[in-house]
Amino acid sequence: MDKLLIEGGVALKGEISISGAKNAALPLLCAALLTREPVSFSNVPDLNDIATMLKLLAQMGVRVGRAGDQVTLDASALTNPVAPYEMVKTMRASILVLGPLLARCGEARVSLPGGCAIGARPVDQHIKGLHAMGAEIAVEQGYVHAKSLRLKGARLFTDMVTVTGTENLMMAACLADGETVIENAAREPEVVDLANCLVAMGAQISGAGTDVIRIRGIERLNGCEYRIMPDRIETGTYLCAAAATGGDICLRGTSAAYLDAVIDKLMDAGCEIETTRDSIRLKAPVRLNAVSIRTSPYPAFPTDMQAQFMALNAVAEGAAVIRETIFENRFMHAVELIRLGADIRIDGNTAVVRGVAGLDGATVMATDLRASASLVVAGLVAKGETLIERIYHLDRGYERLEQKLAALGAKVRRVK
Ligand code: EPZ
Repeated sequence: MDKLLIEGGVALKGEISISGAKNAALPLLCAALLTREPVSFSNVPDLNDIATMLKLLAQMGVRVGRAGDQVTLDASALTNPVAPYEMVKTMRASILVLGPLLARCGEARVSLPGGCAIGARPVDQHIKGLHAMGAEIAVEQGYVHAKSLRLKGARLFTDMVTVTGTENLMMAACLADGETVIENAAREPEVVDLANCLVAMGAQISGAGTDVIRIRGIERLNGCEYRIMPDRIETGTYLCAAAATGGDICLRGTSAAYLDAVIDKLMDAGCEIETTRDSIRLKAPVRLNAVSIRTSPYPAFPTDMQAQFMALNAVAEGAAVIRETIFENRFMHAVELIRLGADIRIDGNTAVVRGVAGLDGATVMATDLRASASLVVAGLVAKGETLIERIYHLDRGYERLEQKLAALGAKVRRVK
């Protein structure tokens, strides 16, 4: 298994480009299932999760073409509306084929994703919504079996804000008979990106980005060409790395528009931030102020940035309180940060981080995607060498990570 070796203590300086958003690309690729016509995406990030999704779609009969950051999907000949366990277990977002397959083929057999490191990750809201739209759904032998001649528009209410739940139901509703209203909908920018693409395919959707989304079902959708939005979490991760190392970087091909909560916290921490329509520049102070955070659904502070901010707080001046309200087990990076010398106390879903003067390199282990990112941030700060094991987690969500870090002056290399 690959490892990442980082020689810390270098302030990041320079300029890199941000890739397309993983969490927009994953549902967008599934949207291609809704039409017989070809759909072309650009700015598709080169990530393991994207490769897994393309493999999953191909085994259903989707013709997949790929050249650089362009992906073309042709779902005219769907032969196998099944998402098998072997593929779903490696990537939970596979559940996003359920709604489109049911809407397009009238049936779907999708393996339950199962839990992951950060939590149980149930999909009961996805199932509840599709059932409300008239689908017959049985959960047997670890699979969701869904059938429906034609889904019916319905008023849906999710018990909690769910990003992929909202996306699955929105996609299913596009081809339903009548109007669907999703209340308590997720407002994440990736949901809006998906809605914009569906509208480009001919869907009738209003309210995306608010907590009430209305979809008027139609008979069929057309193909389209669509450019995927920039990855706001990749953006936030590099901003944290520059902040923690006392650096000065510029990120291109990204927008501060989707990161208000994160940028506010970085400014509270003492960073100077300048933004243009498609770039963000961050200049870090000599020492950061500790900043407390509480994760919540968009537009509040994103849970996917919580681990990175724990690393930043580990070396800030003062103490920070971090509340994780979205997932039940998303502090596994804490024990690894403590191995690097951080002073962190966990009590349930609350962590108290007392900034220390510096961290010392050590061997640490990545447990999930954003926890791994947190260890990279800490390794860049720590004196001496940090060796991060199990970095396949990182490869799921960060395109060309070591190349981008090296372009910012970091001393980092991948070792077998
Ligand atoms: C999406 O996951 C993202 N993944 C996650 O990013 C992100 O952390 C999460 O949203 C929250 O922003 C993708 O978009 C592919 P949820 P998702 O449904 O949709 C509970 C990353 O690092 N819930 O919004 O799976 C759930 O357990 C990943 O890129 C139910 O109980 O998250 C959680 O506590 C990690 N039943 C909360 O809701 C359901 O049916 C929010 O989950 C659905 C969700």
